[in-house]
Amino acid sequence: MPESHANVDDPVQVLAARFAAAIAKVFPQAADADPLITPCKTPEHGDFQSNAAMGLAKRVGKKPREVAEAIVGAIDVADIAEPLTVANIAGPGFINVRLRPDALIAALQAFDTASLGVTPASPAQFVVVDLMGVNLAKQMHVGHLRSPVIGDAIARVLTRLGHTIKRQNHVGDWGLPIAMVIARLMREAAAGRISLDHITLDQLDEAYRKAQSECQRDMAGLEAARRFGMGPKAIAELEEQVAGATEAFLAARQTLIKLQAMDPETHGVWKRVQDVTMKVCIDVCRQLRVNVTDADSAGESSYAPELAAMVDDLVTRGVAEVSDGALVVRLEDPQYGGIKEPCLIRKTDGGYLYATTDVCAIRRRVQKFGAERIIYSIDARQNLHLRQVFGASIKAGYAIHPRTHAPARMEHAAFGSVMGEDGKPFKTRSGESVKLSDLIEETFTRAAEAVRKGNPELPAGEAREIAEAVGVAALKYADLSTDRVKDYIFSFDRMLAFEGNTGPYLLYALVRIKSIFRKAAERGVGETWKTTPHAATAPAEKQLALALLRYPAALRATGEALEPHRLCTYLYELAGVFSTFFEQCPVLKDGHEATRDSRLRLCDLAAKVLADGLSVLGIPAIERM
Ligand code: ARG
Repeated sequence: MPESHANVDDPVQVLAARFAAAIAKVFPQAADADPLITPCKTPEHGDFQSNAAMGLAKRVGKKPREVAEAIVGAIDVADIAEPLTVANIAGPGFINVRLRPDALIAALQAFDTASLGVTPASPAQFVVVDLMGVNLAKQMHVGHLRSPVIGDAIARVLTRLGHTIKRQNHVGDWGLPIAMVIARLMREAAAGRISLDHITLDQLDEAYRKAQSECQRDMAGLEAARRFGMGPKAIAELEEQVAGATEAFLAARQTLIKLQAMDPETHGVWKRVQDVTMKVCIDVCRQLRVNVTDADSAGESSYAPELAAMVDDLVTRGVAEVSDGALVVRLEDPQYGGIKEPCLIRKTDGGYLYATTDVCAIRRRVQKFGAERIIYSIDARQNLHLRQVFGASIKAGYAIHPRTHAPARMEHAAFGSVMGEDGKPFKTRSGESVKLSDLIEETFTRAAEAVRKGNPELPAGEAREIAEAVGVAALKYADLSTDRVKDYIFSFDRMLAFEGNTGPYLLYALVRIKSIFRKAAERGVGETWKTTPHAATAPAEKQLALALLRYPAALRATGEALEPHRLCTYLYELAGVFSTFFEQCPVLKDGHEATRDSRLRLCDLAAKVLADGLSVLGIPAIERM
């Protein structure tokens, strides 16, 4: 069922309905055609236009202009727009529409409520957003920025549209790599070289890397040394290393078995590693104003007890089959994605995989939670993995909703990488990956400098609060305002600029409107404006009104495509239109008392839309900066 958000107060929707009716009347064979209503690019031509005639012309075998003339002759827009005649047809067959001033005011009046014209989606859906997936014992670095920022923004947009959201942090907290680090930590602690009570995530990260290398020490080197006959000494040296690796590897396997059996000591260390990792993760979320808490964590470990039975189920029902000793789900059939690489569910050694857990997660999300839509805010490089997991879940029937019997809509909100200004993956000067908490702190420090420059008298406490808001705005907006599938270049200077399409610019636009109201209060302007009727006579007032009314559609488009940059573009345009309004239409200037109140109402509405939009992007509002 398509989502409906019918809103009679939205001129675009009203016009779309009228054009659709006219098209159905004159071209019944093309009654389903989209009326293609868009805002006019040049206000002199009109407020809106229908671009339907060009496409219809092909379908009905007429010239676009004839089609446009037929529509204009049949349409009834008397209550909302100026009468339509052939004079409204432009170019090859665009139909320009000018709203009636009273209709614009009525729409504005209806829009000016707490909902800002956003009618709740019907039917509302239960949506799971997978938005994090940190790995235990690994430091969070810049590569972990995009998933929560984009995922949280998507979750907020859908919440704003009336859907119910469950966020999921799919923590990588299980399996051999974790056992490797735990084995090493236990050995180090036993030798008195580390204290598990005081261990930091940096130390865990180091232990992780060392555990990895000690478990896979030069196996390839040994093979090569043998192949190239490098002599007994070289071979003996490498053999020694590899023996160490085999030993470490066997210890890790033992640890994994103990962990799976919930051996208290092993599990205690695991829990410690989990606590240390998750504390940093949740702190980062708090700093970034990303709405993810401990309650949203559903680690891979939480699925581990369910995997064996699930795999049995897949085998019993013939969904999975044996291939070279491993268990796979074949997905060549187009209904499962038409993917030639099968989804690997169980390895030859009996071990389960990343995909096994993700299929199990879909089963839980749909069957237990009742998800009707699942959105994965994950790196674009994991696309094949996700398509395989989606396909396998569909084939298994796990993605079929228990109540509606419809398949859950599963989408990959894929994103590109964060690049440095040299166009290569973003790294520190010494070539290491940038710790996320350092990156955030540096953003706050630089934001504080920028704020202090603009406003030296701010008290220190407030300055920090403002700097954090500006920093969060800069960081998140830079990430959200570009098409997410593309890589973007990380630049402190660019993201923190107060001019251009940046977070600080939008925050500043909002603060500037708020200061108009402070100034009004200082001048003794009462609150009469709140009950003054809306007005939009001057061209810049009218453009502002039209831009404000586009907010609900911008939100819907963002939610439909899961593309936060659409909302960013809208807000940036709105801020620009407001700027023009503010230049051309004095609000508090003496001699303009008659128009003051209606202009204050427009200012108030612009502030409400900007604040709402920013909060939907996860950017905190401030009073001044
Ligand atoms: N831990 C994974 C990784 O580091 C990310 C998890 C993403 N979520 C998921 N359901 N697979 O690649």
